Amino acid sequence: MSSKNAKKPALRSTRWFGRQDIYGFIYRSWVKNRGVPHDQFDGRPVIGICNTYSELTPCNSHFRIIAEHVKAGILEAGGFPFEFPVISLGETLMRPTAMLYRNLASMDVEESIRANPLDGVVLLVGCDKTTPACLMGAASVDLPTVAVSGGPMLSGKYRGTDIGSGTNTWSMSEDVRAGRITADEFHEAESCMHRSHGHCMTMGTASTMASMVEALGAGMPGNAAIPAVDARRNVLARMAGRRVVDMVRENLTLSKILTKKAFENAIRANAAIGCSTNAVIHLIAIARRIGVELSIDDWDRAGRGVHTLVNLMPSGKYLMEDFYYAGGLPAVLRELGRNNKLHKDALTVNGRSIWENNKAAPCWNRDVIHSFDKPFKKHTGIAVLRGNLCPGGAIIKPSAATPRLMKHKARAVVFQNIEDFHKRIDDSKLDIDEHCIMVLKNCGPRGYPGMAEVGNMPLPPKLLRKGITDMVRISDARMSGTAYGTVILHVVPEAAAGGNLALVQDGDVIDLDVAKRRLELLVPEAELDRRRKRWRAPKPPLDRGYWKLYFEHVLQADQGADLDFLVGKSGAAVPRDNH
Ligand code: FES
Repeated sequence: MSSKNAKKPALRSTRWFGRQDIYGFIYRSWVKNRGVPHDQFDGRPVIGICNTYSELTPCNSHFRIIAEHVKAGILEAGGFPFEFPVISLGETLMRPTAMLYRNLASMDVEESIRANPLDGVVLLVGCDKTTPACLMGAASVDLPTVAVSGGPMLSGKYRGTDIGSGTNTWSMSEDVRAGRITADEFHEAESCMHRSHGHCMTMGTASTMASMVEALGAGMPGNAAIPAVDARRNVLARMAGRRVVDMVRENLTLSKILTKKAFENAIRANAAIGCSTNAVIHLIAIARRIGVELSIDDWDRAGRGVHTLVNLMPSGKYLMEDFYYAGGLPAVLRELGRNNKLHKDALTVNGRSIWENNKAAPCWNRDVIHSFDKPFKKHTGIAVLRGNLCPGGAIIKPSAATPRLMKHKARAVVFQNIEDFHKRIDDSKLDIDEHCIMVLKNCGPRGYPGMAEVGNMPLPPKLLRKGITDMVRISDARMSGTAYGTVILHVVPEAAAGGNLALVQDGDVIDLDVAKRRLELLVPEAELDRRRKRWRAPKPPLDRGYWKLYFEHVLQADQGADLDFLVGKSGAAVPRDNH
């Protein structure tokens, strides 16, 4: 039979709304309670709008408006929209860290999609963890899916200068600690920094993940950078709503978009935008859900030879608003494609290839988006280190590091956990100088738990006052995408899993060579063995509920820090569906 004559498979939602029995009555009748006419149950695609709106997630607080635009698009295309809430993850307010709940949120997303009469889904994502959580959950169901990011905030404006979320938060808090600005100036900056709806407007994790949505092909062209309050963000949402209805008709499922090529495109785009290191963990977790083999070594391999093109904080000076006006991610993808750094045939949600979408993208400002032959920074991306301190790998973002510290051998100053760090870092008697390597333990996926963004440890005030701005720092933690410095992160195995990181002591010598991808603890193996015998695994801080589940099942950073039983997908079929 030709594909033209092939019978279209019945939509998933007809198993609910297409029935003429008691269950059909129940499914339709209850939905009619909000004024839905009977003719809407005529077999049209039913689309879920998965909304991570919450007032506790300030970055997503405008998502009711975005959802209305998605809904309008779905209706215009002849679909039937259902908006539903899932747990939201706000980076600024959640304690101990939103990352602890990423996997929980992904379960919510997965189960909400699978359990309901949906044929396709639009994911409304914004603040850091909401993007990977939604994509992970949706990947495990694998319906036609479009992610719509909420967009970055407008640039922060403080006393005539632009200030960026996170990046200037770090620098200004260090200025206060060093006595360079007053508390009043600090408070004034708070009001100036976040002055509109949207997520962090630096190239932090949220902007990185919004860029990943676009580079993966899982979002509409332009998804990465349109400011949250720009009307064109609402247009994009509306077009996504229209498009997902057609995706259902074309059976264009997420797994047809999220291929290995798509992930390699995303890795290269990451390098080109001076990405957040958090993207490494999130993309690996998403890939493992959809069934694509992606390792940290793919980051080093695929990203090698890619330069940072984008001059954005924290690596550079501009903000997301400038990025959008300069051409946004399409201009970056075009540069990558013209220099053989893009799988041009990778399919995207609009049904076109990534190259078809971006090959004619203009750039309006070469100071914001550099060309590949005159890059902003050369050979950047993510470097993956190995050695006896991190046999499972550790990462560093060279574009945010100090070049002279990329090869460094020095004595360690060790903090047993984040509480120990906070207790001692301000002590003027702390035995530390600017050459030392700061080591922080027990902040990994299991150790914190939740792998907090504390890897970019603030420097000791006595060294800040000397004008020192960077030191080598090593931990099993993550760092905020808006942070910077010569910071080695995601050490595997983490200290709490008994890695050699757990055995480092004050005064041990550590040898770092980023060019050679090496990180070694220069302590004889016999001595490490002696220390290992004395080491005791930490207990979970809460021994019940989700914390217990997380502690017992979380994987290491190199495997995306997912829960072991969530890896992979179960598809859209509902088990035990006996109705
Ligand atoms: Fe939400 Fe930065 S706090 S994106």
